[in-house]
Amino acid sequence: MSLDGKVALVTGAATGIGRAIAIELARQGASVVVNHLEQQGEADGIVKEIESKGGKAISLSADVTNSGEVNCMVEQAVGQFGRIDVLVNNAGIEMQHPFLEKPEEEWDRVIAVDLKGPFLCSQAAARMMARRGAGGTIINISSVHEDIPFPGYAAYCAAKGGLRMLCRDLALELAPYHIRIVNVGPGAIATPINRQTLEDPDKRKALEREIPLGYIGKPEEVAKLVAYLASDDASYITGTTIFIDGGLMRNTGSL
Ligand code: BGC
Repeated sequence: MSLDGKVALVTGAATGIGRAIAIELARQGASVVVNHLEQQGEADGIVKEIESKGGKAISLSADVTNSGEVNCMVEQAVGQFGRIDVLVNNAGIEMQHPFLEKPEEEWDRVIAVDLKGPFLCSQAAARMMARRGAGGTIINISSVHEDIPFPGYAAYCAAKGGLRMLCRDLALELAPYHIRIVNVGPGAIATPINRQTLEDPDKRKALEREIPLGYIGKPEEVAKLVAYLASDDASYITGTTIFIDGGLMRNTGSL
């Protein structure tokens, strides 16, 4: 398996894309740390699922917006598995309000989880990787909205746009340590984050019409890309975004 012997930490792994990534990385041989925030039951369920297939995993609760909790999580992960080779910054939220009515708290929360979280987790993991001297890979789960507008979601777009440049900057700063950093930009994927659209037949159809491949993606499709990028087969990929969107970005300037 392509990830045999690697240790991966996936943030926000209790549900959605993060859950699928944790399961896929383990399926490909990695030992996985399933991070969550107050979703102990779901996270433990994923650990059990991985273990039942002969894999190794632990669940760790930590708020990615809190540096103390992030550092503690990285220490615990290293304590358990010896190191971290792969960090997947997956934890993310989105909230919708027209810009003229957007509450300040909403802006702060979205920027904290979607942009400051990857900063804190990347810094903690990269410090450990640099000290160890064996390189590593950081994968940010970004969005097509690091590039295309999404009216009503200004904070989300600003955070993902920031993540785009964080990736490009860190690729240069961390290359001397043999740490690669890659963004994955999903389009519309069937996960709890867009439950409202998925459960409204009209909204769902309208979205599907925008997608050239004609369907909303599956978390497992994103997870397979992440597993490839985390593997040594992707050794020459850094500082860029790979979109996985069924062609959505080719079809629309904004959503
Ligand atoms: C958002 C979804 C949205 C998709 C396509 C994703 O980043 O989380 O809510 O459907 O982009 O616009």
